[in-house]
Amino acid sequence: MISKRIEAMPFSSIRKLTPLAKEAKAQGKKIYHLNIGAPDVKTPEAYFEAIKKENVEVLGYSPSQGTQELLEENANYYQKIGLNFTEDDLVITNGGSEALLFTLLATTDVGDEVLTSEPFYTNYKTYFHETGVKVRTFPTDVRQGFKLPAKEEIEGAITDKTKVLLISNPGNPTGAVYSKEELRLLGDLAKAHDLWILSDEVYREFIYDGLEFTSFGSFKDLEDRVVILDSISKRFSACGARIGCTATKNPDLQKALVKLATGRLACPYLEQVGATALYRLPDNYFDEVREEYTRRRNCIEEELGKIDGVFCSHSTGAFYVIADLPVEDAEDFCRFMLTKFEDQGETVMMAPAAGFYEHQEKGKSQVRLAYILEVEKLKRACQLIDLGLKAYKKN
Ligand SMILES: Cc1ncc(COP(=O)(O)O)c(C=O)c1O
Repeated sequence: MISKRIEAMPFSSIRKLTPLAKEAKAQGKKIYHLNIGAPDVKTPEAYFEAIKKENVEVLGYSPSQGTQELLEENANYYQKIGLNFTEDDLVITNGGSEALLFTLLATTDVGDEVLTSEPFYTNYKTYFHETGVKVRTFPTDVRQGFKLPAKEEIEGAITDKTKVLLISNPGNPTGAVYSKEELRLLGDLAKAHDLWILSDEVYREFIYDGLEFTSFGSFKDLEDRVVILDSISKRFSACGARIGCTATKNPDLQKALVKLATGRLACPYLEQVGATALYRLPDNYFDEVREEYTRRRNCIEEELGKIDGVFCSHSTGAFYVIADLPVEDAEDFCRFMLTKFEDQGETVMMAPAAGFYEHQEKGKSQVRLAYILEVEKLKRACQLIDLGLKAYKKN
């Protein structure tokens, strides 16, 4: 018997259609993957060089909290961006994913509630199921740029079981970036209701239109309730390294997180060596990357804007847009694209957005698209979506 907990857990909607994509590939179709936020920007050479230079005879466990070098470099990075975390405030994790799992385990009990915005990163659901917490949401709307709703609406979703406010900023899947004022409002609510703030900032560097990013880690009065969830996956285009971290100034929480880290022994050693080198890259590393993503963001929004009946949210951060399509059931359309459609042997894979909503019907006509391919490929992918929509209507 499989546990009820896992039986009830939905498949991640990012990878849900993978079997269909596999089949399409086996038939020789070329697929443009806009379904997953795995960038094609090259992982900096420094990562591989550092690992090659590492002369190890025995690949032992590294310290549970992370290697000293990585903890130091990670702390330096925070200091440079004005966040007052030292190495003692950090725990290196197996990706931001484990940072999220550990933090939920440390801040909630089974039956507690987590408050987040809707839509939210679909894989959060996995962790809600694993930890036995219930999600409560406040709505944000594609047509309003996913801005926060009024304070009363957010507060209305808080109950006496709510323990945690979880925020993805810049947002996946929304591409929205919260202003300092919006964070202040959320922070004040967290204080008033004594909530932990789990601030998922894995896309911190991906901010466009000259916006300034404010971290939840920069509010002195929230210090004892904030934990930052972080990762090198997107920051340095190193998703396969599986290196992330937690950062908190709360000593009790830090102790609990270290306890959890000790229970799983360690993170991979060589990947930590590589990650250390990434944090030593010159500060201007992000300038070029940000420019590249700005070009891609501009391209996808422009191309989608040309398609009849498609509404696309304006993305000011991360590398996602939500597109509202002129179809009733976007998941059915995504399936169609993989199974019945092709143009010169090519098609597109998208993530149905319903899986990013608690109330799935709200996202039924939407898809989430990751602008992680270079401009020419993005243009072709958008052309395929246009052709696909026309073919789907006739279907
Ligand atoms: C908002 C957000 N948080 C966390 C993660 C987890 O990233 P990783 O486990 O690769 O560090 C992702 C990955 O897509 C994400 O989009």
